[in-house]
This record gives sequence, C-alpha cells and structure tokens, in this order.
Amino acid sequence: MGLRQDLVYPIARRWIAGKDLSAGLAAAADANRRGLSALLNYLGEDLTEPGVAEEQTNEYLALQKAISDATADASVSVKLTQLGLLFDEALTLERLETLASGASILGQALWVDMEGSKLTDKTLELYLRLLEKHSNVGVALQAYLRRSEKDLSILLDRGAKVRLVKGAYREDRQVAFPSRQQVSENYSRLMRLLFDRGEGFTIATHDSRLIDEARQISASRGAKFGFAMLRGIRDELKAELVSSGYRVTDYIPYGDQWYPYSVRRMKEHPSNVWLLLRSLF
Ligand code: FDA
Repeated sequence: MGLRQDLVYPIARRWIAGKDLSAGLAAAADANRRGLSALLNYLGEDLTEPGVAEEQTNEYLALQKAISDATADASVSVKLTQLGLLFDEALTLERLETLASGASILGQALWVDMEGSKLTDKTLELYLRLLEKHSNVGVALQAYLRRSEKDLSILLDRGAKVRLVKGAYREDRQVAFPSRQQVSENYSRLMRLLFDRGEGFTIATHDSRLIDEARQISASRGAKFGFAMLRGIRDELKAELVSSGYRVTDYIPYGDQWYPYSVRRMKEHPSNVWLLLRSLF
C-alpha cells in the first residue's frame, strides 16, 4: 500500500468493512445487531484477467457459505465485470447461475450491481436470462439514465426485483440527465412506477426528500419494499427508519480493492474532503 493509500485507509474504513471476508462478515453482524439487513459486495470491477474473475467468483461462493454458517441476515451483490463480462459473456452467465443457485439453496438473494452505461444492455440481458430460472435475483437500475423508464417498464413486465439508485458513474449528457434536480425528478418518477407495479423492490438512496416521498406513498399502498443505504452514510436515518418498522439494508463493501470505491464516496460529498484534509494535517 502506498503512502497516499496508507493515509486514506483510516477514513475509508467508514465506507468499507475492511480488507477480507471476515471483516465483511463482522460488519454484517454489526448491521444485524442494529436491526439492518446486510448486502455484501467484494470490491473489484472491470476485470480483464480470467484467473482473477474466477478467484472473485470463488470469493462470492465462500462468502455465501460464510453468511449461512454465521446465520447472518445478509446476501451478496455482484458486479458482472467481476465475473468476466468484459471478456466472456457466456461464462459470466454460467457464474451468475452458480451464485444464484448457491443463494437459493442457502435461502439468500443475489443482487446485480449496475455499472457504466456501456454495460447496461448486457447487464439487463444477462439479468433477465437469470430471472427465467431464478426468482431470488434482483438488479440495480440508475435513475440518472434517460433510458431507465423504458428499462423499468420491461423489467416490471418480467416480474424483476429492482434496486433503484441515482447512479454513480461519470456519464455523457446524451445518456444521463446532467442536473441533480433532473436526476431526483426521474428517481421520483421511477419510484412511483415501482410502487404502482413492483414487488420486493428497494429504494436505495440517502436523499431525505425521496425517502420521505417513499414513506408517504407506501402509507397508502401494500407494496413490499425496503430501503437501502451505503455503509457509513446516514446511520441515524437508518436507525430512525428501522424504529418506524421499515426494512433497511446496509450495503457493505469489503476487499483489498477498497481505494477506488472510497474515492468515489469521498467525491460525492464535500464534507468528506474536509475529513480527508483533517487526517492529513
Ligand atoms: P445524493 O448523492 O443526492 O445524496 C443525498 C444525501 O445523502 C446528501 O445530501 C448527503 O446528506 C448524503 N450522502 C450521500 N452520499 C454521501 C457520502 N458519500 N458521504 C456523506 N453523505 C452522503 N450506483 C450505481 O451506479 N450502481 C449500483 O449498483 C449502486 N448500488 C447502490 C446500492 C445502494 C444500497 C446504494 C445506497 C447506492 C448504490 N449506488 C449504486 C450509488 C448511487 O448511485 C449514488 O451514487 C449514491 O447513493 C449517492 O446518491 P444518493 O441517492 O444518496 O443521493
């Protein structure tokens, strides 16, 4: 680990559980003690080496078993480029199916993260093929993408489980709404569609206005849904939602590829840059 990463690691621990499976599992147990379900992600993306993608698939299989052995209320969420999407689509689907079967045998769910817009088509296609054989699988959908309303309609027609997020990648204005307000408005529109037609979906945001809106809509609807937030962000709000009777999930990343993920989180919010500067001086 370089000097810069050495300095960032203590701060990054707020967003990541640690570097290995046992740290991920300990964070899941802690989340469970606070009334939260856990969704674990082994950090890594954009893999181009077949050997590494196989190792990551094996890590997920070990993680599913460890969750079950620990009787934790937890599931895993994977990125398809961790399983080999950038070089072998058929093998990626095969690995997804292995993970979905593993999850189903152990009574867990399997979630698919959404990556950059160049991968949206392939991710949705593989997810929908997976859904034909497995009902315990869900996929993230990004409200910042202009195409998402159309995608959501197709997903809902097929009975998909959707985790609605704003979107975390740098995208061109031709494919994504450029302003925060437009993204929030689209999030709100897609969320209403989920409450109208969806089941078992997740409202994944830390945005109080959208969370309040979801609470209001849910008061008059019977839809089964939950909230999800990232580890280390808005913990008091998570506790408040739990005490109000909502299902809340903590998304918990771990692994030695923690640096790029943590930098993404820091850039999302100015107060984190202040945290970083304070730790350096
Ligand atoms: P927004 O960024 O507007 O934040 C709203 C408020 O939350 C802020 O005002 C602040 O109070 C707080 N906040 C947000 N981020 C913070 C931070 N880093 N530090 C401190 N406070 C912060 N993306 C993606 O492209 N693909 C995916 O698969 C997923 N998966 C996923 C799962 C889950 C459970 C969550 C919660 C999020 C994702 N994301 C994701 C990330 C998502 O796209 C988005 O980047 C972040 O959730 C931040 O957007 P918000 O909706 O929180 O709104």
